[in-house]
Amino acid sequence: MTTSSPQRLETRIQNPWDLIDTVRYPVADKTAPEYRELVERCRTQLKANGACVLPGFIKPEAIEWLRAESTELAPLAYHSTVEGNAYLTPEDTSLPKEHPTRMTDRTALGAVAYDQMPEGILIRQLYEWDGLMEFLGEALGKEKLYRYADKMGALNIAVMKDGDYLRWHFDQTDFVVSLLIQDCESGGEYEFVPMIRSRDNENFDSVKAVLKGSTDGVIRLDIKPGSLVLFEGRNSLHRVTPIVGQTMRLIALLGYDTKPGVVSTDHLRYMRYGRVD
Ligand SMILES: [Fe+2]
Repeated sequence: MTTSSPQRLETRIQNPWDLIDTVRYPVADKTAPEYRELVERCRTQLKANGACVLPGFIKPEAIEWLRAESTELAPLAYHSTVEGNAYLTPEDTSLPKEHPTRMTDRTALGAVAYDQMPEGILIRQLYEWDGLMEFLGEALGKEKLYRYADKMGALNIAVMKDGDYLRWHFDQTDFVVSLLIQDCESGGEYEFVPMIRSRDNENFDSVKAVLKGSTDGVIRLDIKPGSLVLFEGRNSLHRVTPIVGQTMRLIALLGYDTKPGVVSTDHLRYMRYGRVD
């Protein structure tokens, strides 16, 4: 066994928060004034454009450990390629061909499921730590968060290789929490159009323009390995541009919900992991 294996890495920390730069982000000390300031800063960013980036959230040495264990797990990823629209809905052939709900593109990526990750590895320790969940709940302005109860979907490592791509889409969840572990050589940019639609206004013309290549209103998030990202994607069109080069883009997706016991449908599991059990 090499020193970079997950089994060895887990012994390098005493507590999950040892992975975090707690001087910059005092998430473990809820009584500190700096904690309140941090929560307020996150809420302000989210309110402004639905995205909050916490650069250097993970300490530089810890991101190397996370990179080592994720690289080791990456060959387990199930790779899927799915053609679909930005709304993640079935095609409605009664609408005109040029309607944005009928414009399709490709999403191609790999995912390591939660049940493929050995207990005790660092990314699991971080995800399973209640302190992080409580901080995220406050930062997102939610009364209480629960870890997503799905045995495959709770925590994922998205593995994106040369040519992989996440097409323009809206999320069907209120928020996503992600942690970039390793960036690719080029491409793999996270782009979004804040609040391009609302509950009352689909704004199909603007969505269609972006789907056809317009860069109007498109923001590119500056995300580096170690950045924690909170993103509200239900009304903000977003994508990850195609990966270029031989270095994998590795990103942990930390699943939470405002309700306990939420799991994925068999259909979603099959699409994402190639199995239902
Ligand atoms: Fe998304």
